Amino acid sequence: MTPDDLIADALRNPGFRRATFAGVPRGGPCPWVRVVVRPVELRGERHLQFSYFDQRKDVTRNYRPGELAEPLGELLAARFSGIHLTTATEEIDVRTSKKGKVHVGRRQAAGGDTPLSHNRVKDVPLPEGRADRLLEVMGVMDAAGRVKPTMRAKFTQINEFLKHLSHVLDDAGLRSLGRPVDILDCGCGSSYLTLAVHHYLNDVLGIPARILGVDVNDEVVRKSATKADRLGAVGLNFAVGKIGELDAKPDVVLALHACDTATDDALAQAVRSEAKLLLSVPCCHQHLNRQLKAERAEVLRPLLRHGLMHQRAADLFTDTFRALTLRMAGYKTDVVEFVGTEHTPRNLLIRAVRGAPPDPQFAREYHELKRFLGVTPYIEAALGERFPAVAE
Ligand SMILES: C[S@@+](CC[C@H](N)C(=O)[O-])C[C@H]1O[C@@H](n2cnc3c(N)ncnc32)[C@H](O)[C@@H]1O
Repeated sequence: MTPDDLIADALRNPGFRRATFAGVPRGGPCPWVRVVVRPVELRGERHLQFSYFDQRKDVTRNYRPGELAEPLGELLAARFSGIHLTTATEEIDVRTSKKGKVHVGRRQAAGGDTPLSHNRVKDVPLPEGRADRLLEVMGVMDAAGRVKPTMRAKFTQINEFLKHLSHVLDDAGLRSLGRPVDILDCGCGSSYLTLAVHHYLNDVLGIPARILGVDVNDEVVRKSATKADRLGAVGLNFAVGKIGELDAKPDVVLALHACDTATDDALAQAVRSEAKLLLSVPCCHQHLNRQLKAERAEVLRPLLRHGLMHQRAADLFTDTFRALTLRMAGYKTDVVEFVGTEHTPRNLLIRAVRGAPPDPQFAREYHELKRFLGVTPYIEAALGERFPAVAE
């Protein structure tokens, strides 16, 4: 069987789940940088949905099984260098070298059938129990689709984060931008979240998205870029730098466990660039903890006497100032539980969607709380010249 026959058979197979055509088009100039094919059910009938991506836009077309010959022929003629197919029983890789040599890799997939649904957010964005190349490259799963025991907490965190993201896509107007969504992942570290968000939006939900992961640590940035290359991901970039110092104007700002004041820098970046959405799970809190003293807020002495409660109070006050600042800046802001404490003790998620009417009450609350505690939250320094206008 030729590689083309293998691909055509896999797409026509009732157990077909997904195919990604990416990498260099060895067949000559091609308008698309990536094409994703997946089964969808439309008006009760099975179709194959072809999503064609270039750097700026995407085009989606749906075909019945009997209409596949032409789009499939065109796609195969492009001879993308990296093709990955998933069926109910197999993971198939078709790689074409510069010299045109084709290598086919096949391995068994674990897991049962996925129900078809059009644009439906599944209960778990990235399910386990079946092989998943993304999660394998990330080092979260093994080749049989089993989550590695040491990566269980990270796997759960990623899925929960994606669920939170999916819940606010419409509120933030991100499905209808008419162009790819620009996302900045602040303090991306080993880029688990960055890679997962890129895959989830582009390949699972079919929302074109470009992501820039930024981190001060050049070593993790280098490793992340290597992973993105291995995945053949388009519109996924990494940069070494401090949050807030890059020239970026993202639609969405993400910050998962960005250390101490790095979370404030991410919030300030969102406000300055008028991002439509911010999702931030703060990490360690030190800045306000150092300023919080019973001598400045005598009534809190019984609480601040105990180190553990002192730290927790400082955490809560810091996040209170952050949530208030976002409200003052015109964001509809919620604070919700990110994930169960058994997966991470840092489990508070600040979710802010731009477009709430201004209310001077929030600035009054901010200044009163600040006076009462005798502290200056770091968010003010992070916002710099922008803070007075926000806090009016
Ligand atoms: C705890 S890790 C979280 C990584 C990733 N977001 C995750 O949840 O897997 C925090 C990351 O933030 C980075 N970081 C801390 N302060 C930063 C700053 N001011 N600008 C950019 N990155 C920063 C660190 O280098 C580290 O990689």
